[in-house]
Amino acid sequence: MKNNIQFLVLYPLSILCFLLLVGCNQHKQNAIYRVGVSQCSDDAWRTKMNEEMKNELIFHPDIQLSIRQANDNSQLQCLQIDSFIAEQVDLLIVSPNEAEEVKPAVSRAYDAGIPVIVADRQVTGEKYTAFIGGDNYAVGLYMADWLIHQASLINATSRTPLQVIEIMGLAGSTPCVWRHKGLVDGLKNVKNVRLMGSGNADWFAAPARVVTDSLLRLYPQTNAIVAQNDIMAIAAAEVAEKVTYDRNIYNRRDTPIYILGTDAMTGKGGGVEAIVHGKIDASVTYASRGDMVIQTAAKILHHEPFLRDTILPTMLIDASAAETMLLMSHEIEHNIATITTLQERIKLLWDMSKMQRIILYTIAGCFLAILIILLGLIYEYRYRRRIRAEREQQARLVAKQQQQLEHMTVELEQTKVSQSQDELFMQRLQELIEKHINDSHLSIEMISDKIGVSRTQLFRKTKALTGVSPIELIRHVRLRKAQQLLRKSNATIQEIAYEVGFTSASYFAKCYKEFFGINPSTEQQYTG
Ligand code: FRU
Repeated sequence: MKNNIQFLVLYPLSILCFLLLVGCNQHKQNAIYRVGVSQCSDDAWRTKMNEEMKNELIFHPDIQLSIRQANDNSQLQCLQIDSFIAEQVDLLIVSPNEAEEVKPAVSRAYDAGIPVIVADRQVTGEKYTAFIGGDNYAVGLYMADWLIHQASLINATSRTPLQVIEIMGLAGSTPCVWRHKGLVDGLKNVKNVRLMGSGNADWFAAPARVVTDSLLRLYPQTNAIVAQNDIMAIAAAEVAEKVTYDRNIYNRRDTPIYILGTDAMTGKGGGVEAIVHGKIDASVTYASRGDMVIQTAAKILHHEPFLRDTILPTMLIDASAAETMLLMSHEIEHNIATITTLQERIKLLWDMSKMQRIILYTIAGCFLAILIILLGLIYEYRYRRRIRAEREQQARLVAKQQQQLEHMTVELEQTKVSQSQDELFMQRLQELIEKHINDSHLSIEMISDKIGVSRTQLFRKTKALTGVSPIELIRHVRLRKAQQLLRKSNATIQEIAYEVGFTSASYFAKCYKEFFGINPSTEQQYTG
């Protein structure tokens, strides 16, 4: 019974499960790499970078991203990196909020054997696997070049130089440090441009407004503002606009303030749009290249050669380029949207085909299971039929044997009866012969009369039971009796012959010799 359940239920079920698993897993990657992304902040530039990374995954289906952002908080970022270490991610991508503060956590990941890609902002030290980011020093140099150009436009001289204020990002972050350094180096020997003052606004609009306001109060004749990102540049532009109308507060000459930002983002509310709308004058591009970050991650994970430090180029976008750039970026955005739709369609089709495959495997599995169940049932039916036939055969055999037994019992009974009849017959025959042993006239007729059987019956029975005829039996009884007498009595051979019913001594001697092989005289001689 247990075997039957196994055969009918468990085997088909396990085959079905196996087929389903095979069907579902056929196109799954062998290994999935878990990649942790630690973003320092959450703004349009970060969103773009994250999108670029996610979009690139279509070419790297073996990579799984988990993105966490630290809200511009270095301590929080360290904790998030530590949680990625605890989760034993296969690779870590970090955009550190501040180089020095986030360095310990990055080093811990690196020391734990996790490859680390530092993106955009850098960490101090060498404990990282690869770096991909924009050339911040070049950004600063572009700012300087642009200022030199603006100075030439207003005919600035060393005596009346172009007065510049700088709105910087977060002090501890490398882009802030290097952009400033590039700017300062770029203006080193330039006499008609003067950097009046700099202030940190941590990459945000609100602090940028405060910093711009106080710097403009300090340097009311400011001709240009350079901001280390467009968010701060647009905020500074709002303040600067107020300045032009409120000359009393700022005690200012009526000259325009040129504004330069950084990032040159093409999206809504980005730097390029601000240039086109005349809010700011120019911006320096700062590429995020999330796609490149993922490509490098894939190379590291697959143990392929990769470039340790990738410094992304940068360029200046002013009003002459902004419109074209915006147009082109819209074109690109449109194309990206089309690609995304196509991707979604492909995914849908892929999911459908996966579903169909699962259905197909399930149907095939069901068919197989049904087939096995059917075969099982046929086997079961045949098995039962065979068992039934065997049992019937056995029953028939038992019945036959019983019959035979009964028959044999009857026969035995009969044999017993006939045996006892034979014994009785023989006993009576023996007694009768012995009783009339000296009667030479004892005849067959007389015996059959006395026993109550016919002559023929007497002959047949005597012959069957003793092997000799009644006449011979009478003679043998007489001779055996004679032998006894010869052995123990002193009577003569003639007397003994008469006593056992012989009428002639010579005939007795002849018969005795024939029966025992010796003469009666010899018998008497030896025993006497
Ligand atoms: C975005 C951002 C950019 C800037 C970069 C510097 O979070 O502030 O505007 O260029 O980071 O790392």
